[in-house]
Amino acid sequence: MAETAQKPKTKSTAPDQAFEPWEDPNAKPLIEFRGVTKRFGDFTAIDDLTQDIYEREFFALLGPSGCGKTTMMRMLAGFDMPTAGEILIAGQDMAGIPPNKRPVNMMFQSYALFPHLSIWDNIAFGLKREGRGSDAIAERVEEMLRLTRLERFARRKPHQISGGQRQRVALARSLAKAPKLLLLDEPLGALDKKLRQDTQFELMDIQEKTGTTFVIVTHDQEEAMTVASRVAVMDEGRIVQVATPAVIYEAPATTYVADFIGDVTLIAGEAKAHESVVEEVVPEPEVAAPEPLVAAAEGERAPQPNALGEWLHDRLLTRVLGPRKAAPKLLPAPEVAAVVEAPVAAPKAAPTEGLAIHWAAGQPPLVAANAPPDWAGKRVTLALRPEKVAISKARPEAANALQGKVIDIAYLGNISTYHVELANGSMIKAQMANTRRISRRDITWEDDVWVSFSDTAAAVLEE
Ligand SMILES: Nc1ncnc2c1ncn2[C@@H]1O[C@H](COP(=O)(O)OP(=O)(O)OP(=O)(O)O)[C@@H](O)[C@H]1O
Ligand SMILES: [Mg+2]
Repeated sequence: MAETAQKPKTKSTAPDQAFEPWEDPNAKPLIEFRGVTKRFGDFTAIDDLTQDIYEREFFALLGPSGCGKTTMMRMLAGFDMPTAGEILIAGQDMAGIPPNKRPVNMMFQSYALFPHLSIWDNIAFGLKREGRGSDAIAERVEEMLRLTRLERFARRKPHQISGGQRQRVALARSLAKAPKLLLLDEPLGALDKKLRQDTQFELMDIQEKTGTTFVIVTHDQEEAMTVASRVAVMDEGRIVQVATPAVIYEAPATTYVADFIGDVTLIAGEAKAHESVVEEVVPEPEVAAPEPLVAAAEGERAPQPNALGEWLHDRLLTRVLGPRKAAPKLLPAPEVAAVVEAPVAAPKAAPTEGLAIHWAAGQPPLVAANAPPDWAGKRVTLALRPEKVAISKARPEAANALQGKVIDIAYLGNISTYHVELANGSMIKAQMANTRRISRRDITWEDDVWVSFSDTAAAVLEE
């Protein structure tokens, strides 16, 4: 049994107890993949992969079918040898070390229990093979049964318990020998959603109690986000990004990651320096303008149209020129739930730095303040999570506001997702928390609406 004196720190402990050994240059990894390649014939399943995993981590491998997740685990467990590169566990090179001599246990994608043995004997199996004394075995099996809440089923055979319970037996069996490292390949694949969620929490609990390092493979992105200290997103034998679930979600490294994890709207366009937007500001209508709010600089148009100009633009010019481009000067969008009744006259903020992304003819450029200004001139993609996009009937005060029509509404209980089609045919997903009763929610199919988001809402990705 792993020592229990030191309280394990994992993702699920309080957030102030940060567990981030990967940030510590002195931390020694438990697992080191160093330039590992695995080929089957001329097919490269793992491609020059280098990755550290630390003790007590709950490390999730996420990626589409066939990207090499099981292959990585099999090499770690010793069932497959790398074609090139090396794998170290606790500083020791694993080359030539057979599976049963490694401090690793692997629960396979298709775990098999012994059908003729009781649950109790299934869990005891590996311990008996190790030749432990019967008292020690009994004690350990009882402990595992308690941990996985299977005490009541100890005497039954595998066919006499449910699928979820069988999965827990497989887990108990894998944990019985107290491996330093437990590899779980789709451990919850057979469970329905509810049981799956319960078991995820159980797994996290077990991991904390035992201090085992877990590497888990899953197809299910939500599951990876729930259980993992770090998530590795894989694509065709390579790790594309490794980070905490929050970073993977909020700051995906590539459009592949953004698209793979969670719901996202991707908008590709050409980045220009933000100043160019200010210069391109819609010409002031040629109407006598009383009391200009801002004096125009020499040889330059006033960046802020006066009140009459704004009125005219909104009533008439918007059809030709698109919405007014004064938006960057305004405050970021308020929180989603508050937007419907957004105040019309929000105080105006200083102009933001950043990029203006020109993405579609007839649509205003989108302003992003969270990208390096030297990306101007590049093709970029904005990755926009629906919960960062507000929807309203009135024109909102936001850095980015686009007009469209509601095509579809997905009601998800606590939130609704609106699919809004813009005039140029592109779709944007917006989400609204359902904090009020249905009768008071006033946006429905075919409604003309505004979708809006702040200038830091989208992740800006280089193409
Ligand atoms: N023994 C083998 N011989 C030849 N090719 C193999 C072998 N094992 C795996 N592969 C190939 O290597 C690639 C990676 O396989 P792997 O089993 O690691 O995928 P995976 O990411 O676990 O997929 P899944 O999510 O479907 O389980 C696949 O294209 C697979 O066909
Ligand atoms: Mg697999």
